[in-house]
Amino acid sequence: MSDRVLVPWQESRELAGDVSGAGLRVEVFSGDEPGPEDLKDVVFYTVPYDRPHNSEPLGRMPNLRVVQALTAGYEHLVDQVPAGTTLANARGLHDSSTAELALALLLAAQRELPRWVRAQEEHRWEHEHTRSLAGSRVLIVGYGSIGAALDRRLVTGEAEVVRVARTARPADDVHAVADLDALLPTADAVVLVTPLTEQTRGLFDSRRLALLPDGALVVNVGRGPVLDTSALLAETSSGRLRAALDVTDPEPLPADHPLWDSPGVLITPHVAGGAAAFYPAAARFVAAQVRRFAAGEPLENVVVPGDR
Ligand SMILES: NC(=O)c1ccc[n+]([C@@H]2O[C@H](COP(=O)([O-])OP(=O)(O)OC[C@H]3O[C@@H](n4cnc5c(N)ncnc54)[C@H](OP(=O)(O)O)[C@@H]3O)[C@@H](O)[C@H]2O)c1
Repeated sequence: MSDRVLVPWQESRELAGDVSGAGLRVEVFSGDEPGPEDLKDVVFYTVPYDRPHNSEPLGRMPNLRVVQALTAGYEHLVDQVPAGTTLANARGLHDSSTAELALALLLAAQRELPRWVRAQEEHRWEHEHTRSLAGSRVLIVGYGSIGAALDRRLVTGEAEVVRVARTARPADDVHAVADLDALLPTADAVVLVTPLTEQTRGLFDSRRLALLPDGALVVNVGRGPVLDTSALLAETSSGRLRAALDVTDPEPLPADHPLWDSPGVLITPHVAGGAAAFYPAAARFVAAQVRRFAAGEPLENVVVPGDR
């Protein structure tokens, strides 16, 4: 009898190759339907990405050794992964798609694309000049894998980038979050791309938002609760700040939520990370993790080490 490895795509199964020598067989579980009934022999489970049935089967795998998440954020999985099981995340796989949407939101907001789309719908030639990204000072708060990918795109866009992480990395010109309050008054735009943790929840509250200059733009592609929704609404309703949000609190945003209609607020429905660029890289990464597991090698991207 061999142990089972579940991967979400046939491509990952093929790329993983023959791992029967390690006593493993690889099967596809897409997450489109509920998981198979008998999951007792599953030792490696890849949580399908953004599918209706993704984490539910976790509670039915008593011999699980590895959970491979396909999201970079994993706060929602920590309590669902059985004790002793290794959890690895998808750090790196969402960099291109998430950085690309952050750039798109910055450009759309600075060049007022939503306004021109509305004017086009009404056949109105509304000739007026706008802000630009070039020449703007952009704070990236949560300067990790995605932040660095955004930085590369912003440099091409001739923006000035200021980097902020939890701890300072002077060699990379990264400031500590302790410097945030001093940096906020100097920013034309701030991009939030931190994980959701006890330290980042509500990091952007009314006090911090008040430190931003009039007209500044707040972009959130990290997690909704990092930005206090009521505090943001107070600032956008008055027209003092603008926002471009891929993530909100709550999510999904209810149809009658005031954020939808608040002036200067552009919303995308948490679609940054899952664009086309994610899938080929993710399929290869999952296969490589399975091969490492079969060879008894250390896995990449371990965020919670297991003990079995
Ligand atoms: N919208 C989407 O579709 C989408 C897609 C992918 C990811 N995300 C979100 O983006 C997050 C970041 O992903 P990533 O792959 O770039 O993660 P990462 O490489 O681990 O980087 C996260 C960065 O956040 C910093 N950080 C942590 N706590 C902080 C705090 N209290 N204040 C300031 N900075 C803090 C870390 O600083 P240190 O280096 O000093 O620890 C690190 O530099 C994910 O956790 C997820 O929530 C969203």
